[in-house]
Amino acid sequence: MPSNYLWMHVEALEILLQGLCGVQKERLRIHELHLKSGPNLGAVPSDLKILCDLEQPEPTWTVRHVGGPMRGAGADQISVLVRTMLESKASKNVLRFFYALGYKLDHELLRVGFAFHFHRGVQITVTVSSINKMLKLHATDEAVPVTPGMQLVEVTAPASSENYTEVVAAMSSFCEHLAPLLHLSKPGISTGVVPTAAAAAASLMSDGGGTTL
Ligand SMILES: *[C@@H]1O[C@H](CO)[C@@H](O)[C@H](O)[C@H]1NC(C)=O
Repeated sequence: MPSNYLWMHVEALEILLQGLCGVQKERLRIHELHLKSGPNLGAVPSDLKILCDLEQPEPTWTVRHVGGPMRGAGADQISVLVRTMLESKASKNVLRFFYALGYKLDHELLRVGFAFHFHRGVQITVTVSSINKMLKLHATDEAVPVTPGMQLVEVTAPASSENYTEVVAAMSSFCEHLAPLLHLSKPGISTGVVPTAAAAAASLMSDGGGTTL
């Protein structure tokens, strides 16, 4: 498949999202460092991501731990994955701090794309990004795509144990509006561009995207 075919879909998706979200996209350029803990840390989270937002005038740092998926019959019935996430802003020496605690760099990647943050009953974030690997340690200027011509589309929203059914409903209904171009599914289940996508993309590109909810 020629890559301009997929690129056309990404541009069409951007137009569709712009119409649906009603906000301007934000550029995304995030250096992700995935750490694993050494053997001596007991019950603390063993996998952590250190994120450096390179789009900011002064790079900003975040520590994130993502827990395992919610399990059980209830979890199987809903169309989205529910996970605990702990996140904290950090100072720029955060990496040295975690190395000192015994964490080791497992791998690093550079995520490049765009994001929409908007409110539709619940706070929703959509990111469209390519995943790039570094040819040399920390060399974000020399990153190359892991899957050329392919982008990762993610829709996320914060929820608590009290309100997650409401958040799931809002997310599912939002995702239905992307159906002409793509089906989203839980991570690990294969999904992708729908058969009608080329026609839908062409029509979105030609009318400049008048879609609103
Ligand atoms: C659900 O709870 C989370 C966590 O308290 C909060 O961030 C989110 O805004 C809430 N969403 C709704 C729709 O009430």
